[in-house]
Amino acid sequence: MTRQNRPKEAWGSRLGVILAVMGSAVGLGNFLRFPGLAAQYEGGAFMIPYFISLLILGLPLAWVEWSLGRYGGSQGYNSTPGIYRAVWKNPIAPYCGVLAIIIPVMIYMFYVYIEGWCLAYSLRYLFGQMNLGDKPAVYENFFNNFVGMNKDGAAILSPEGWPLGSAVLFTAACFVINFVLIYRGLAKGIEWFCRWAMPLLIICAIVILIRVLTLGAPIEGHPEQNLTNGLGYMWNLDVTKEAFWVSLCNPQMWLEAAGQIFFSLSVGFGIVITYASYMKKDDDIALSSLTASAGNEFCEVALGGLIIVPAAFIFLGKEFFNKPQDTFSLGFKTLPNVFNQMPYGQAVGFLFFFLLFLAAVTSSLSMLQPAIALLEEGLGLRRKASVAILGFITAVGAALVVFFSKNLMVLDTLNFWVGTLCIFVLATFQVILFGWVLGVDRGFEELSRGAEIRIPRFVKFIIKYVSPTYLLVIFGLWINQQFFTASEDPEVLTWPQKIQQSPVVQMTLGFIVVVIILFLLLIAQSVRRWRAAERAETEAAP
Ligand code: ALA
Repeated sequence: MTRQNRPKEAWGSRLGVILAVMGSAVGLGNFLRFPGLAAQYEGGAFMIPYFISLLILGLPLAWVEWSLGRYGGSQGYNSTPGIYRAVWKNPIAPYCGVLAIIIPVMIYMFYVYIEGWCLAYSLRYLFGQMNLGDKPAVYENFFNNFVGMNKDGAAILSPEGWPLGSAVLFTAACFVINFVLIYRGLAKGIEWFCRWAMPLLIICAIVILIRVLTLGAPIEGHPEQNLTNGLGYMWNLDVTKEAFWVSLCNPQMWLEAAGQIFFSLSVGFGIVITYASYMKKDDDIALSSLTASAGNEFCEVALGGLIIVPAAFIFLGKEFFNKPQDTFSLGFKTLPNVFNQMPYGQAVGFLFFFLLFLAAVTSSLSMLQPAIALLEEGLGLRRKASVAILGFITAVGAALVVFFSKNLMVLDTLNFWVGTLCIFVLATFQVILFGWVLGVDRGFEELSRGAEIRIPRFVKFIIKYVSPTYLLVIFGLWINQQFFTASEDPEVLTWPQKIQQSPVVQMTLGFIVVVIILFLLLIAQSVRRWRAAERAETEAAP
């Protein structure tokens, strides 16, 4: 491989790379999305498809990405188009890498908005501005005004006051923080930040956990709203209840569990593969991948799972969970109400949103690196130029998300098409690339080189047959459900209906297509440069 393609950057230490991958994984998904999903399906039923997805999709796919990434890195590539080119000698291979660039870039566009909410909420708690009273509606109104839920452009006018009520200001601040860190590079930016942010966020979570686990039954006249019942609601596998079996037979729950595993572990994003490409040829990846995944599961199941739902159960009761919740309700509308009723709740509120903010930054940072790798390695740009170009592209996307805030339509559209559909496609592509194109035996050899644990041989069978089959079945069911199955609720539209009726959805899809074309052109230019360098190398050879 050409010399100029050699990785220019490297991780500072093994712990650093594990913390960086774990930082990418631990994010809003762990502390908001997971508890929300777990609470939605009765009797602890969600944990069954969740753990099955972890075992046959999450862990194998993480190993696949670490292996493909380190293999590509050893061939001199850090960008996914380059890595796919190294693995698959087919002219279309680098172009398949476009998904692994646009997924993280476009998720970043809305993720940074939510990150801004977390920072704003934490500072409002710190300055005593979240004590809004004991009516749930005030927290709902605050959130709706703050994010501009009722009208496009409303968030820009900061109806909740300047500066602590301005979602735009906090989003801009988060945007700058991310780009400053990414500009500092892999070891001095990403690794440095994750090294202190990860332990700090875990400490914050443990403090909150202790608070929740010592709550007892604080609501007078409601002894049943206690810690034990709160934990039981989340965790008991209540096989005697009909609701448990109804949930278990619901294909939607299986789909959501698989989607949650991808989102939470950041697999199928193009991130882990890029991070792993900066490792040395004989570094351990088997145990490192397992450690990072285990760390993520600890944060998700043990911390996220023990804090949010039990706390909401204790203060709001079981009836609260009977009402369907939208994606952000639990975190940004319900929990502030819960913190308001909790002893020391204002301090807990600050810690909770601060930990969310830290978790979000360690994830959003990782979403920028795949595109930076392409701009630097494929186009030969310097860090300043690549950061400026990516900054411009993501700023346009984030501005669309912030401006078209009515019902968070752009956010929702990007989350569905890129943050769910494209992730399924990329995950399927990668598992097939590893199991069938590189070959499961060669892939396994790559995974085992330098490994500090012995990976059982049946994992080969899982990667080659079980994971792709499971993914394709789930994907088929999901497409059928999202596109062709009308909801019982006439207000809930299918995606074809949404596209037909909403100009904002149409515009967002147009924007996704434009970004895909833009990155395809950049990949084409990179391929030209790689070919020219290879020709020059061949001619120079004696
Ligand atoms: N893995 C990241 C999260 O869970 C994206 O939020």
